[in-house]
Amino acid sequence: MADPLILGLESSCDDTAAAVLRGQEVLSSVVMGQAELHAAFGGVVPEIAARAHAEKLDLAIEQAIEQAGIALPQIDAIAVTAGPGLIGGVLSGVMMAKGLAAGLGKPMIGVNHLAGHALTPRLTDALSYPYLMLLVSGGHCQFLIVRGAQDFTRLGGTIDDAPGEAFDKTARLLGLPQPGGPSVEQAARMGDETRFRFPRPLLDREGCDLSFSGLKTALLRMRDQIVAAQGGLYEQDRNDLCAGFQAAIRDVLAEKTRRALALYLAEAPDMPAFAIAGGVAANGAIREALTTLCAAHDVRFTAPPLRLCTDNAAMIAYAGGELLKAGELSDMSLSARPRWPL
Ligand code: KG4
Ligand code: ZN
Repeated sequence: MADPLILGLESSCDDTAAAVLRGQEVLSSVVMGQAELHAAFGGVVPEIAARAHAEKLDLAIEQAIEQAGIALPQIDAIAVTAGPGLIGGVLSGVMMAKGLAAGLGKPMIGVNHLAGHALTPRLTDALSYPYLMLLVSGGHCQFLIVRGAQDFTRLGGTIDDAPGEAFDKTARLLGLPQPGGPSVEQAARMGDETRFRFPRPLLDREGCDLSFSGLKTALLRMRDQIVAAQGGLYEQDRNDLCAGFQAAIRDVLAEKTRRALALYLAEAPDMPAFAIAGGVAANGAIREALTTLCAAHDVRFTAPPLRLCTDNAAMIAYAGGELLKAGELSDMSLSARPRWPL
């Protein structure tokens, strides 16, 4: 039998996305961001996000179907993010999926958004199980051993902010544009990371948990000290602050990855591999540190291309396809779950 055609829907944060997959082949992947809607508020506003998803999902689906060169009734199944995420947005996606499933008479599969991210390296690099995964985005930070489409072991994660969130807050405190990650990274390239010494939170504690909220407090204090001493913030100060801040995140992620690798390698996997995903995976300094670390342990390093690393619906369609194979279908009682740990 030919691989099924799966329509994926994603609406759990601030991207409205739809994609069509045939097996491993991404026929289309449409992502409609909402950055401009939230820009004035300094963060994602749940009510605005939910309304935008409800308005845009139709269009995203229409474009995904058209770009895939198929007609909607050809779809074999609908995969939809059922959580975790902002409840209004997740609900929009789940309602849409239910409508399509009922209207077309096709099965529906509720997918965990985190499982979508975690399985993406199978779609892009055909990684075999088990592999170690670091998911680092604006909303998430966790280490997972991925053993199967429904079999994950969480080794640790952030106990407060996600790294992307810390980058975004840092940019805001220094008057740099959003999203903060790319602008802080750019400033850091021209900065001296040794001028300001940021803390390395939780390194003194065993295990793979991380913490990032102390970094922005440290940054705020340093910024205010400079402003008090010289009456303002010069470009070089900003660059040095960004470099010191980024170095702290890089060092913490590298050390915790070293510990996660040790736990993973103790299981003697046949083909050891480490994958990084999420928007923060775009950061050159972090990537370089993790690449070096993996090379030193003879572990293959992979990172999906950025368009599949950040929120998208192709990963939801792929994870949905794996669940479909396992016969894990959802029915009309599928509910949206704001919290849904793997
Ligand atoms: O995965 P993503 O698109 O969305 C979710 O959080 O779900 O990640 C976005 C996050 C933002 O916080 C952004 O600042 C961060 O990824 N980011 C970066 C870089 N590019 C994006 N952080 C550090 N360095 C970058 N180059
Ligand atoms: Zn995500």
